[in-house]
Amino acid sequence: MGKLNGLEDKVAEIKARLEEAASEMGTSKEVYEGMKEFLDPKKGRISQLMKDMREVAPEDRAEFGKTVNALKTWAQDRFDTIGSEVKQQELMMRYRKEFVDVTLPSVSLKKGNLHPITQVREQLIDIFASMGFTIYEGSEIENDYYNFTALNTPQDHPARDMQDTFYLSPEFLLRTQTSSGQIHVMENEKPPIKILSPGKVFRSDDDATHSPMFSQMEGLVVDKHIALSDLQGMLDIFVQKIYGEGTRTRLRPSYFPFTEPSVEVDCSCFSCGGKGCRLCKGTGWIEVLGAGIVNRKVLENCGIDPDEYSGLAFGIGIERTAMLKYGINNIKLLFESDIDVLSQIDD
Ligand code: PHE
Repeated sequence: MGKLNGLEDKVAEIKARLEEAASEMGTSKEVYEGMKEFLDPKKGRISQLMKDMREVAPEDRAEFGKTVNALKTWAQDRFDTIGSEVKQQELMMRYRKEFVDVTLPSVSLKKGNLHPITQVREQLIDIFASMGFTIYEGSEIENDYYNFTALNTPQDHPARDMQDTFYLSPEFLLRTQTSSGQIHVMENEKPPIKILSPGKVFRSDDDATHSPMFSQMEGLVVDKHIALSDLQGMLDIFVQKIYGEGTRTRLRPSYFPFTEPSVEVDCSCFSCGGKGCRLCKGTGWIEVLGAGIVNRKVLENCGIDPDEYSGLAFGIGIERTAMLKYGINNIKLLFESDIDVLSQIDD
């Protein structure tokens, strides 16, 4: 047995077992389990050797202890080495698994965008909201009174022919203009009034620039001393924000039954700067909307005293604005839902 009670043999055996176990360790978890088996302070094989110390003569116990400690240090070193080798292997495996070939062409992600009509509608709302307008959304089905009569267009008025109306019944129709919203607002609110009324309108009309359903944005301001200059001031800001900084407006006399005077508003051609081009048909100007000073009769119809208050109104075609702004030459493109067309327009 020898003076150390067979310790040398046990040390050799533990070393051999440890090396054998080590040769099979492939993961950090296995290394950890192995360390527990050999080096656990209480139950580890090496600590267990200390039990045999009792059998050894007192003068040999120091050497016994030294031998066990040397084994402990050796085992710790082995596990350190094995541990770092296994970690390195694991890392390499991870690199291999997570390898990214940066030379591959990227997959293009399809990003959605808002429909151009929605984009223009939101831009218009932003512009006029910044001037203090609030939104009123009327209904698409109207009765004759709100769409025509209250807007100074009685049954036999020739101006009814200006808009080919879809009648649902002798009384009800699909609104032909958002101007009907003016009446609802003025019936329910007292001046000062400053509203914007966006929405769909319907007319029996169908060609490259007209669709039976389209959208308008009505503006109405009623207060004391409202004049055409107020209208032009607001519309100047509108055209500059939509068509570009240098854009100017020009008012031309026109006719709408519900405004007096009525104007057609042109803006200077943002394509040629006013010199004359295909877009403005050589005139330097592009027609953008109809507007005017609210007819006294319309104010009276809504119970507002025209001697005390005056108003301005304008109606912007949203599709028309989108077509001009984005160079779209056929209104159908805005209704066909062709993603290849619509995705090109993203402001
Ligand atoms: N409602 C008119 C149209 O549809 C536009 C307009 C609105 C004109 C407000 C004057 C004032 O043609």
